[in-house]
Amino acid sequence: SPPVIAVDGPAAAGKGTLARCLAESLNLPYLDTGLLYRAVGRRMLDERLDPASQSGEQLALSLRPDDLKRTDLRTPDVDRAASLVARDQAVRQALVHIQRAFAAERGGVLDGRDIGTVIFPDADVKLYITASARTRAERRYMQMAGTETETNRDAAISEVEAALIERDRADATRAAAPLRMADDAVRIETDNLNAGQVLAEAIRIVKS
Ligand code: CDP
Repeated sequence: SPPVIAVDGPAAAGKGTLARCLAESLNLPYLDTGLLYRAVGRRMLDERLDPASQSGEQLALSLRPDDLKRTDLRTPDVDRAASLVARDQAVRQALVHIQRAFAAERGGVLDGRDIGTVIFPDADVKLYITASARTRAERRYMQMAGTETETNRDAAISEVEAALIERDRADATRAAAPLRMADDAVRIETDNLNAGQVLAEAIRIVKS
C-alpha cells in the first residue's frame, strides 16, 4: 500500500515546508495536523470559550474541512489556544480518526507532534525535524509580515523565541501525547540547512 511518512518536531522547525515539498515530490497527499488543533482553538476563541479550562471536544468532533481553510489560524493567540486544546486527551482522541482516515487509501505525508508516536506508530518513514530555538524564531519571524523596523528586529525575534520555547515546553511536558522523537525516527538538524537541503536529505532517507 502507498507509504505513510511522519514528520514531527518542535514549533517552527520547518516541518510544514518540508512535508509539503516531500509530498509533492513523492506524489502523496499532505496533511498539516497542526491545523486541526488550530481550528479547534480558533473556534473556542470565537465562541468565547476558555481553552485553558473548557473542553474543545465537541468542536473537534464537529470540525468541517472549511474550518482548516480559514486564514486566521496562525496568529499568536491561536498559537496559544492550539497548544492549550492539544493538552486535552478528548480533543486528541476526536482527531485521531480524521488523521488515520486521511492516509488510509493513498498514503500521505503528515506533519505534527505525535504522528510517528501515536497516529501512525507503523509509519513507513519517520522524520524528526529540529533546530535551535533561535533559528526557529528567526524563521518564524521571517514568515510573519515584516512591519518591524530594523532596530526592533532583535527584540521582535526574542519575543517570538520566548513564545516558541514556552509552547515547546507545554507540548513536551503535557500528559496527553507529549512531543518526543519516536525511537525509530531519523533526526534532521536543520540549523545549517536551507529548505532545499532539508528536502534532499529527507528524500535520501525515504529512498534508503
Ligand atoms: O507551525 P507550528 O510548529 O508553530 O505549530 P503547529 O504544527 O501548527 O501546531 C500548533 C499546536 O498544535 C502545537 O503547539 C501543538 O500543541 C499542537 N499539535 C499537536 O499537539 N499535535 C499535532 N500532531 C500537531 C499540533
